[in-house]
Amino acid sequence: MTTPSPLLQVRDLRVDVGERNVLKSVSLDVAPGALVVLMGANGSGKSTLGLTLAGHPNYRVASGQAQFGGQDLLAMNAHERARAGLFVSFQAPPDIPGVKNNLFIRSALNAVREARGQEPLDAFDFLASAREAAQQLGLPDAMLGRPVNEGFSGGERKRNELLQLALLRPRLAVLDEIDSGMDVDGVRAVVRLVQNLRAQGTAFVVVSHYLQLIESLDPDAVLRLDQGCIAESGDLELARGIARTGFARAAEAVEA
Ligand SMILES: Nc1ncnc2c1ncn2[C@@H]1O[C@H](COP(=O)(O)OP(=O)(O)OP(=O)(O)O)[C@@H](O)[C@H]1O
Ligand SMILES: [Mg+2]
Repeated sequence: MTTPSPLLQVRDLRVDVGERNVLKSVSLDVAPGALVVLMGANGSGKSTLGLTLAGHPNYRVASGQAQFGGQDLLAMNAHERARAGLFVSFQAPPDIPGVKNNLFIRSALNAVREARGQEPLDAFDFLASAREAAQQLGLPDAMLGRPVNEGFSGGERKRNELLQLALLRPRLAVLDEIDSGMDVDGVRAVVRLVQNLRAQGTAFVVVSHYLQLIESLDPDAVLRLDQGCIAESGDLELARGIARTGFARAAEAVEA
């Protein structure tokens, strides 16, 4: 049996932010439909990896490669990456004053639909599906008519990231601490949505510090990032070990 070629393949990625080299050498594969959990101490470079994959201009790739669906991801600009089916949620979702949430998400969705060869959704059809998705995520309808994230609470911002995920249905979603700041119902909504999209073929890289969420997601692999390098890879036992002993002890054990 041949193994399917990875949807995302990252090799020896080295990334500088400002004056600082943050990622030293990161290599990872994500197969189509797989779920990979990325753990790591604060400041180890998890968000840097996500934002670099998204094409954020502040994250400069010094060397290395990244292929997404057989294309050279690093040669694509941010909107081309999104159109190709990559979704990266923000750890701290920013406000976009003056831009209505429903218009923002519909524009993004229609760009992705165009790339898939699908007809654009008009405002009426979009609103029907957006309302349904928002309801499932516990977001009041009124959030759709407000400027993106402006005045949203911490948990509402995270739910709004999930709303985009639910509507865009990407090929690969990188979720950066999507559970942080969410109440118990929000965390349940994360698990439900991830399971639902996974069943339809979406692959995930999930960054989280919380074992309970990680266990609920039934990951295919767990990676530990340490000072800009993948220091360990394993399964749920790696996440359980980190939860038991902490990152400092995990790093000492590998060195020993
Ligand atoms: N503009 C910058 N200039 C200098 N250092 C930066 C800059 N941006 C980020 N860094 C540093 O890069 C390192 C990695 O940050 P990153 O946000 O990727 O960590 P993280 O693993 O996501 O941590 P957390 O668990 O706290 O979210 C941190 O030490 C951070 O201070
Ligand atoms: Mg982070």
